[in-house]
Amino acid sequence: PEQERALKERISGLLKQHNAVIVAHYYTSPQIQALAEETGGCVADSLEMARFGHDHPAQTLIVAGVRFMGETAKILTPEKRVLMPTLEATCSLDIGCPADEFAAFCDAHPDREVVVYANTSAAVKARADWVVTSSIALQVAEYLSDRGRKILWAPDRHLGAYVQRESGADMVMWEGACIVHEEFKARGLADMKKVYPDAAVLVHPESPAAVIEQADVVGSTTQIINAAREMDNPRFIIATDQGIFYKLQQQAPDKEFIIAPTGGKGATCRSCAHCPWMAMNALENLATVFERSDNEIAVDPVIAEKAMRPLRRMLDFAA
Ligand code: 13P
Ligand code: SF4
Repeated sequence: PEQERALKERISGLLKQHNAVIVAHYYTSPQIQALAEETGGCVADSLEMARFGHDHPAQTLIVAGVRFMGETAKILTPEKRVLMPTLEATCSLDIGCPADEFAAFCDAHPDREVVVYANTSAAVKARADWVVTSSIALQVAEYLSDRGRKILWAPDRHLGAYVQRESGADMVMWEGACIVHEEFKARGLADMKKVYPDAAVLVHPESPAAVIEQADVVGSTTQIINAAREMDNPRFIIATDQGIFYKLQQQAPDKEFIIAPTGGKGATCRSCAHCPWMAMNALENLATVFERSDNEIAVDPVIAEKAMRPLRRMLDFAA
């Protein structure tokens, strides 16, 4: 705790000195989330992170999350410096959707509106008509479908299938997945619901269909937190990364939160349901962001210009 306090103080001083602010995701450690809050930064879902970074006057953004979040910040505000505790923090959805293969997929479906999830590289976004996050994916699909548009969706097949089921949109899909959410087990969840009949089930839509089917609420991380605060249930089963528990407990201190099972019969573990890339963010590498030269986000200006269009569209749609 002593060392942690010293690190936090050092980082706070550096933030002021460099006119910088922390933009953190709910899946980062409780220490990082608390520090972001204490220093006037934000802890948010990926859509709100993009908006906060765009609107905040600080000259430097410290993005504590995964790489696509840093790239989004840089594309939306190229005049700002965007640093990350580590550039190694990626995402299985981003890895599973290489830009060249994705371009070939788009070329094969020229009649479709290209809608990509925010969890992609800048080069993939540059090929898109729309960028969406989980909080607005369904509304965008409904909007396009109502106008008779056919959709090419990438890269998360679970979120895509959920959106397709709910909207009835005509969609062709890339076959990517999140390695964290894909692990939630439907059988184990059904068993857990029997043990806790008064619990509401809150599920992130990157989870498999049989898990989503059992949800009382399906939504982005912010939507999950809002539901937990607003619903009357005394306890909640949560199917998303365990990092979200910090905020859930802070926002609804009298309620109980249980992680959905990732193993066989109701089994779970402390290290399960936790994104290995989000876990690369720590106070230690956050404290040295200003000293190192290996952690500044750079996006090719030609790609950035193309990717800015669908990203701005995302912010405008969500406004
Ligand atoms: P949210 O936009 O819901 O925060 O999701 C981001 C993410 O990476 C989920 O795994
Ligand atoms: Fe990507 Fe899944 Fe990690 Fe989110 S939790 S950053 S979708 S790997």
